Amino acid sequence: MDKEIFDLIKAEAVRQREGLELIPSENYVTRDVLDAMGSVLTNKYSEGYPDFEGLTDWPDEKIAAEKLPSKRYYGGQENTDRVERLAIARACRIFHADHANVQPHSGAQANNAVYNAWLEPGDTVLGMNLGHGGHLTHGSPVTLSAKIYNFIPYGTVKATGDIDYEEMEELAVKHQPKILLVGYSAFMKVPDFARVAEIGKKIPGCLLMADMAHVAGLIAGGVHANPFDFGFHVITTTTHKTLRGPRGGLILSRGTVGNPLRKPEKTLEHIPTLIDRSVFPGTQGGPLMHIIAAKAVAFREALQPEFRDYATNIVNNAAILADELDALDFHCIGGGTENHLILIDMMKSFKIDGKLMERGLDRIGLNLNANSVANDPLPPFRPSGIRLGTPAITTRGLGRQEMKRIAKWMRAVADICVKAKKEEFLDKYGTELEALHAEVVKLSLRFPLPSDK
Ligand SMILES: Cc1ncc(COP(=O)(O)O)c(C=O)c1O
Repeated sequence: MDKEIFDLIKAEAVRQREGLELIPSENYVTRDVLDAMGSVLTNKYSEGYPDFEGLTDWPDEKIAAEKLPSKRYYGGQENTDRVERLAIARACRIFHADHANVQPHSGAQANNAVYNAWLEPGDTVLGMNLGHGGHLTHGSPVTLSAKIYNFIPYGTVKATGDIDYEEMEELAVKHQPKILLVGYSAFMKVPDFARVAEIGKKIPGCLLMADMAHVAGLIAGGVHANPFDFGFHVITTTTHKTLRGPRGGLILSRGTVGNPLRKPEKTLEHIPTLIDRSVFPGTQGGPLMHIIAAKAVAFREALQPEFRDYATNIVNNAAILADELDALDFHCIGGGTENHLILIDMMKSFKIDGKLMERGLDRIGLNLNANSVANDPLPPFRPSGIRLGTPAITTRGLGRQEMKRIAKWMRAVADICVKAKKEEFLDKYGTELEALHAEVVKLSLRFPLPSDK
């Protein structure tokens, strides 16, 4: 009935089919995930939690079959309870967690809930500098949490692109943070979690938190270290990036799982329950049960053996793409990548800014985003770099040959941008851009979206 919205959704499906998604925080979900999201579960209010103690060891069929007591504020929860229990149990299995809170509406909500669970106003958090690859929610002054808590940023070493662990240690000793946070949106190394844990364990009452929003799918697929193996207490993540689920957040924790209706003592052991109480009623209202169902579906997919191949292919494709780009004179920060993500200094490579390159690539159906590089002299909206990644194109099945094609198209667009100098002048090269676009469309259509299959 709603022609305008219907047509726009159809147009977006065409855009997704005919282009290649190189934004490292995006992915293409399966039809099953889409179906769960578009289900009648959206009609249900489910404030509170299902009973879940000890459930992680139960097989799925038993969790789906058993009707257990509910800790909800409304009736009619016999199905929603079981959906949420399945999501919790599957998330715990993937990440080897003692507990999972599957209710955060987004990654930002997940992080804020952890801060609210463990910190008092004015307490200190040590997190990665936004300009060096950290996320807004790790202390950017424009956020609400930065008004409440005291964030101290640590940086990366320019030459290697790695975390400056010495600086982290110095700052930790000096500021005695209540949370030591490792996490990032533009960082290409696997962090030395053992070293971070060693630093954090010297600070009394310091919670070790990893925001693995970007690499959660790589952890799930066994190709990236799991912070829990090094003594971390909490992992937050989004569910829609490499994990390939619906848009949303997730908090995993280690500790004793207690009754969320009873306030526990504020100790690291009780972190799972402190977090549950902080998500609801602390920072959110009713959970989105259709999204929780879709998370459960995606978690099941992540537990299948094929997901390991998927994660391996993401990392292999990213390494190939980085090598190809390097051979075509793109300057990859850190000399390449150890994960799914590549950061390129466009100013250093071709003396053009990241925004111009982003806009040029948009014209041919390759989508990525302009991104700051460490100590960027340019402003965040028009920064020096671009950020790209391989999770989405790997879902579609692209491999080595296609990575080579993408690198060549990117070089062709960089050359056009050098000539155009400004976005306004890209039109002068319309014919060249259209020819490249036609090539991208042709290749894209050979690799259908999973939801089209
Ligand atoms: C490391 C990290 N944390 C948190 C978030 C926030 O996630 P959301 O956009 O779902 O709030 C992001 C999103 O890009 C992220 O990269």
